[in-house]
Amino acid sequence: MGEKAICQRGYAKINLALDVRGLREDGYHEVAMIMQTVKLWDEVTAERVDPAEAGPDCPPITVECNLPYVPRDERNLAWKAAALFRERTGITEPVRLRIYKKIPVSAGLAGGSADAAAALKAMNLLFGAHLPMQKLIELGAEIGSDVPFCLIGGTCLATGRGEIVERIRPLPEATVVLVKPDFGISTPWAYQQFEEDKVTRRPDLPAMQKAIAQRDWDGIAAQMVNLLEPPVLKEHPILNHIKNDLLDKGATAVLMSGSGPTVYGIFAEEKSSSKAYKFMKKYYGSRYTVLERELYQPGGRRPAP
Ligand code: C5P
Repeated sequence: MGEKAICQRGYAKINLALDVRGLREDGYHEVAMIMQTVKLWDEVTAERVDPAEAGPDCPPITVECNLPYVPRDERNLAWKAAALFRERTGITEPVRLRIYKKIPVSAGLAGGSADAAAALKAMNLLFGAHLPMQKLIELGAEIGSDVPFCLIGGTCLATGRGEIVERIRPLPEATVVLVKPDFGISTPWAYQQFEEDKVTRRPDLPAMQKAIAQRDWDGIAAQMVNLLEPPVLKEHPILNHIKNDLLDKGATAVLMSGSGPTVYGIFAEEKSSSKAYKFMKKYYGSRYTVLERELYQPGGRRPAP
């Protein structure tokens, strides 16, 4: 028997661009997104359960979490990841997942998907299943549209319903200031609000990729558009105030991430981000989660070919 427990990190993401290209027959929306990992992570520890402790009534999957309001059953994406992994590998040993969450919940930062990705990697190592990354990505896609990106990370183009992920040239180094208000947004709700005929401006993803390759922040900022943003901003005008404050404090660009409600400012210059972070923390920090984080590229900043 190998290790008794394996811990893996699951990182949060921000959307640099999110284009919605229509409703599919399966009920999902066809999307094209540029996504980026940030240095903000949850930790998922997959642990073998001692057979003596387990007993005959031991549940096959137990989830523990530092946050009491996080579900510990099939509503939890890490639980779903464990169930799918056991089903597909035929591993019958019970498993305990201990999740230490730092990524805000229902925030548009893919926290649940990050936990599922970390659970898949941790179980793969713990039980010596040796599933290749491509197989983990296929399982991830069955769990949720953002899970494949969470497995790959870095700077990626995601298409299909979000599950077809390809690494692109890494975004130039930058710092983000994230503000997560004290309410959550349901992803299905945000997609339901999308109205094709109300779209005035779409992100040009090839133009953004070109600007990324040229390290041209003006060009990147010009394409930072999220088509899920307008209806969410209309429903929650506070998000506009937050975006304006981030811009006032020197953000290179500001955007809502995913289906929200987290909005972020991206700062090409670190000095201005610390000043903005202090300001945002002071004015919003008593009610809202305010974080300052660098971008993260797994395996370093090697440019994709
Ligand atoms: O894939 P995931 O389970 O994360 O998606 C949650 C919900 O978000 C879907 O059930 C759907 O309502 C909506 N969604 C969508 N189009 C996508 C991704 C998600 O309509 N590309």
